[in-house]
Amino acid sequence: MKNISNKNIYKYSKGLKFENRELSPNEFVNKIKDIAINHKAINHPIFEFLDNNSSLKVKKNFFQIFAFNYEYYSRDFNTYLSKIIDNTADEEFKKILNENLTEELGDPKSNDFKKWPHRKLFDKFCSDLGVNTENYRLENKIFLTTKLWREYMMTNSSSKLPGVALGTICFGSEFIVPILYKKILNILRKGQSIISKEAEYFFELHCTMDVEHAQKMLNICEKLCENQSFREGLLFSTNTSLQIRGYFWDVIFSKIKKYS
Ligand SMILES: [Fe+2]
Repeated sequence: MKNISNKNIYKYSKGLKFENRELSPNEFVNKIKDIAINHKAINHPIFEFLDNNSSLKVKKNFFQIFAFNYEYYSRDFNTYLSKIIDNTADEEFKKILNENLTEELGDPKSNDFKKWPHRKLFDKFCSDLGVNTENYRLENKIFLTTKLWREYMMTNSSSKLPGVALGTICFGSEFIVPILYKKILNILRKGQSIISKEAEYFFELHCTMDVEHAQKMLNICEKLCENQSFREGLLFSTNTSLQIRGYFWDVIFSKIKKYS
């Protein structure tokens, strides 16, 4: 009974609070960066599996399931950005998100595919894999996890609670996307090619572009981390966003293992 006395509980919680107070904003942000870099969301065993099983059948099966589901999650990415812009009070954060949105929208009529909207590049990825056809939609279902992920994004991007939007969009997306897409590119480029150069460019461009977005957002995080509630919201939404991405790989992994 000694260990669970009120005194000890008090000491324990005080210790945690003390630890958080002790971390400077820079240390706190670095701690969250570590959580993200080491998370299953970007270190999932599915990547090692795909690296060791690069047959055309396994590769095509993975990319079809991934494209079909990721399209469902990302088709409203611009809405997520717009909602955050509407709901954040931080002018610097608004500015970065507006720049991000302009890049997303690109120039749909350009002859240079490198200027296309990101959406158009991703649609090319889906059509190269044949997952945007009526037939494919009839024969395949979007995972429940993907639907939950989309709902989660809609809720978090509308949240006015401190730290929630930044944790979701920065650590749950922009900060990890360059690392993740490099892994995806490596799998795509291994063995026989299955998509066009335009579709491949979708992943290539985010490997550099999102590094810049993330860096600017990290600076804002550091500034706002002076506030304890912001830290709490940031940590919570970072962890939950990464966890959902991890679940997303879990469901794809269980499906592709059945057919390999
Ligand atoms: Fe994008």
